[in-house]
Amino acid sequence: MATYKWYIWIIQLFIILNIQALVNCVDRGNFKTCDQSGFCKRHRSITPGHSPYYLEMSSFKIYETSLEGIIVNSQNGIQLKFDLIVLKDNSMRFKIKELNTIRHRFEAREALVDRIEESKLEVISQDSEKIILTFGSNKVILNGSPFRIDIFSGDQLVISANARGLMKFEHYRPKSNPKPTEEGEEQNEIQQQQPPVPPEEEQFKDTLWEETFKGHTDSKPYGPSSVGMDFSFVGFKHVYGIPEHADVFPLRTTKGTSDPYRLYNLDVFEYDLNNPMAIYGSIPFMVAHSETQTVGLLWLNAAETWVDVEASSNQGVVSSIVDFVKGNTQIPQQDSHWISESGIIDVFFLLGPGPKDVMFQYAKLTGVTPLPPLFSLGYHQCRWNYRDQDDVRNVDAGFDENDIPYDVLWLDLDHTHDRKYFTWDPYKFPDPIAMQTNLTAKGRKMVTLVDPHIKRDNNYYIHKEATDRGFYVKNKENQDYEGWCWPGASGYLDFLSPEVRDWWSSKYALDQYQGSTLSLYTWNDMNEPSVFSEPEVTMPKDCKHVGGWEHRDIHNMYGFLMVMATYKGHLMRSGGAQRPFILSRSVFAGSQRYGAVWTGDNIADWNHLQISVPMILSLSIAGMSFSGADVGGFFRNPTPELMLRWYQAGAYQPFFRAHSHHETKRREPWLFEGEYRTAIRDAIRARYPLLPLWYTLFYENERTGVPPMRPVWMEFPTETITFDMNDEYIIGSCLLVRPVLEESVVNVNVYFPGTNEVWYDIITHEKYDGGQSVSVSAPLSKIPVYQRGGTIIPKKGRIRRSSSLTYNDPYTLVIALDKSGTHANGTLYIDDFNSFKYREGNFLLLKFSFEKNIISSKILEGKFKTSAWLEKIIIVGLEKAPKSIILFNKNSKTELISKYDENQHLLTIRKPGVNIGEEWKITL
Ligand code: GLC
Repeated sequence: MATYKWYIWIIQLFIILNIQALVNCVDRGNFKTCDQSGFCKRHRSITPGHSPYYLEMSSFKIYETSLEGIIVNSQNGIQLKFDLIVLKDNSMRFKIKELNTIRHRFEAREALVDRIEESKLEVISQDSEKIILTFGSNKVILNGSPFRIDIFSGDQLVISANARGLMKFEHYRPKSNPKPTEEGEEQNEIQQQQPPVPPEEEQFKDTLWEETFKGHTDSKPYGPSSVGMDFSFVGFKHVYGIPEHADVFPLRTTKGTSDPYRLYNLDVFEYDLNNPMAIYGSIPFMVAHSETQTVGLLWLNAAETWVDVEASSNQGVVSSIVDFVKGNTQIPQQDSHWISESGIIDVFFLLGPGPKDVMFQYAKLTGVTPLPPLFSLGYHQCRWNYRDQDDVRNVDAGFDENDIPYDVLWLDLDHTHDRKYFTWDPYKFPDPIAMQTNLTAKGRKMVTLVDPHIKRDNNYYIHKEATDRGFYVKNKENQDYEGWCWPGASGYLDFLSPEVRDWWSSKYALDQYQGSTLSLYTWNDMNEPSVFSEPEVTMPKDCKHVGGWEHRDIHNMYGFLMVMATYKGHLMRSGGAQRPFILSRSVFAGSQRYGAVWTGDNIADWNHLQISVPMILSLSIAGMSFSGADVGGFFRNPTPELMLRWYQAGAYQPFFRAHSHHETKRREPWLFEGEYRTAIRDAIRARYPLLPLWYTLFYENERTGVPPMRPVWMEFPTETITFDMNDEYIIGSCLLVRPVLEESVVNVNVYFPGTNEVWYDIITHEKYDGGQSVSVSAPLSKIPVYQRGGTIIPKKGRIRRSSSLTYNDPYTLVIALDKSGTHANGTLYIDDFNSFKYREGNFLLLKFSFEKNIISSKILEGKFKTSAWLEKIIIVGLEKAPKSIILFNKNSKTELISKYDENQHLLTIRKPGVNIGEEWKITL
């Protein structure tokens, strides 16, 4: 039997890999469409406007911050429990689950932070038709029959739930002639009350209790269990988010035109672009934005989920309410329909009102990216695979020989001994500690790959312990599930179990992970999880996790849970002293708390470069602020031009790593010729002076949830022209980036937002007025990046081998004056760049300002001591040369030397020389 299985796997694997190689793109037939997914089809076929659900008005109980009641399905009498909770910071949550059930439903609690603060609600009226309540300046109307929730921000209706009547809650039921299950035994009475399959489900009955896809049958022992509901965003033409999809940033209408967006973590290498197919990550968070309002919706469910989007207008079912409220019939609307295979309906509404408010509110629910260690914001060099220690040594030396900085060298799969994670190939990597020490001598770090599939080899300690302790996910027969991945036959750890997670964390201890050091960090890949031998390349849904949960219930959280354990392992190995750095391929809501993400196995192709921008923006607004794409494209060989343009884009994105497949040509940055080689080097070098800005932005991200890489509308919420942008974005509030993403292009159109703004080219200092599109010249060496007038950016001018060697280097302040030429502001955050001591106040947050010819630095917060000093101040947009420049600090007064460039209106003040941590003032 076992041999037979192996054959099948090998043949399947061969077929998958070869089909991929032949067609060189994804075979869509390997992945389900909505029509091939029973629950998606059942929900999508609901006719709007006939909701059978009503609120049992007499059932309501009202508490200080919440209320609860019962929803009834009038077709079958099934009762559901409804809870509404008002949250601090302009948000609310509601949950719907079965009142009496024969099986519990999974709730994705781990995605949320430990404590979500609640806030008071006030019921202002309650009758047999509706309940009206308020919180803050918001109003909620709970309509009784049919059940509908209308949420108003001030007077404006912004979200309506079940307005189209698409809610559907498939209760658990016995199959037929129920034989009581263990859980059922206690609740036999309830089982007997369950009605038979309702008539409207008759047409779907073939997929209710079993489903087959590509010859594999999902046994569905618990039958249909899906949940779904519609949400209309009233007054909005644009919705964003629900990563991860290889698609444009504003979500498209899917209803009637394509499949819904699918959220189901899958290993789809060489993914197709511009479609709603699922790929590696699933974050069920959507943001609706208009000139006047931004709102967010989190559908907290870890099962496979489909989301339909449809742009409509006042013609929708909500129109009557809208007309009533606004007396206006021309209100745009985005309708969304969310469908999950199991779990509960657990929805959060985040009411903004601005885009940054929504980011903050989302962070309050799911957490933030903790401030990354500085090195991880530098450039990362990766390849599948650096062959051996000599290769590592040569690549490392190549950077020095070519005067290119970098921070991290990555080792992929084949550094391990026979693909057993936490081991090293004894021939190729005989002395991993010496290898790491060689890197750390230059301030550099190393990352190794650790995947969740464990080679089933009885001599492998991880496998042995996992088997002995029962730590693997089980198949439907309750035996250790066996799937096929990189090492061949593999077991998959059950990360849903806290015990397994703790055990996994302990494996990162320095005395456990032989050959590791505190400078070795982790890459968790293939954690969707990827299983080559299964349909859709992932674990069967009827596999079992701890607590009796099916894989179906938790699928989209599997990778999240793995990375959660890895993060803890990293914390533990340094006794909590050092910040972890972990890269994950699979993500869920809340994954940002544990590290970075990249967009998986893309292709060296211009279209893939283009899509990387909206993909990273979508991840960013869904909390994953530390994200990037494989620079150069993972599969195939980039042309030198593509490689260069990708480096230029990557240098201005949060996670900056080049990576490539083992079948591609070597492409370390110096392997290109002539001007490409120079320009690639310059692009990597361009990253480094801006690390103080990135670091400050990540610190602010930890405090506010606002991502460092932002859609332009996050900074200019009323500029409708930016709502459809896919090729331009803003770093912080200050740097506008329009990377060249097209082949053979040497001019690009840049839209400069803000009619009262000015923008300055960061290299030439050329000035552009806001509120216009300009065609700018972008020859090969050029990255179109512009500093916003009115901002001050801290930089470090010296480029060294790695960021760790720049800790105490002097700073330069680049002051770009606003349109009036009189004001500018900026911040700088400094700490020890690596530990958690900043959480005890060991940091400095500085505010720089230029007000009417006085430049000053103020300590906003913190008490960190640094030896870094202020080397230079550059003022851009200064109309005339000052007569004298005087520095006041402590009790001294010093005249400073400067140079003024009349053509560029640029003043350079040399060597103020003050410690950057002091307060000072310079008058012009
Ligand atoms: C997956 C990853 C890729 C990695 C490869 C080998 O395809 O997405 O980045 O190089 O596995 O580990």
